[in-house]
Amino acid sequence: MDTNRLSPTLAKALNQQMTNEAANAQVYLAYASWASEKGYDGIANFLFRHANEERNHMMKILEYILKRGAKVTITEIPSPGPDPLSVNDCFEKVFKSEVDNTAAIYSIVEMSMAEKDWATWNFMQWFVKEQTEEETLALDLLSKIKVAGGASASDEALYALNNDLAKTPDDATLAQDVSTANP
Ligand code: FEO
Repeated sequence: MDTNRLSPTLAKALNQQMTNEAANAQVYLAYASWASEKGYDGIANFLFRHANEERNHMMKILEYILKRGAKVTITEIPSPGPDPLSVNDCFEKVFKSEVDNTAAIYSIVEMSMAEKDWATWNFMQWFVKEQTEEETLALDLLSKIKVAGGASASDEALYALNNDLAKTPDDATLAQDVSTANP
C-alpha cells in the first residue's frame, strides 16, 4: 500500500525548500561571523539568533515531508557567497535573500493549489505569514542603516546601531497583529 501523500512534484519542491532554508541559515551564520570579526557584536548576535530560526524552518519542512510519508533527501547546501562589503551591504543582502525566499514559498503555495493538495496548502500558510514577518524584519534593518547614514554611515552611527540591535528581539510585530490592546 502506498502511504506517500505527496506528489513527486511537491515532494521535490518541499525538499528543495528545506535545502533553501538550510542555505538561509548558512547566509545568516556567514554574515554573523563577518559582523563579529568586524567588532559588531550586537549585529552578530542578532544574525546568529536568526540563523537558528532558519534551521527551525528547515526542520519544520523536513518533519512535514516525513509526516506525509514522502522521502526526505538531504543534499549539499550551497555556499553563502562572499562576505558583505559593509553593514549596509549586509542588510541589503539579507533583504534580498528574504524576498527570494518569499518567491520560493509562493511558488509551492501555487503548486499545492494547482494539485488541490490542501494539506500542503494549509501547511504553507504558516510560511506565508512567517515570510511577511521576515521581510518586515529585513526592512526594519534597512531603515535602521538608512537612518545611520546608509553606505556612508559613520563609525559612531554604526556603533549606536550595533548597540541598538543587541537589544532588539528578532521577532517582528506585523501591522495586522497590532491592536490598541497589543500595540
Ligand atoms: Fe526561512 Fe528567512 O526565511
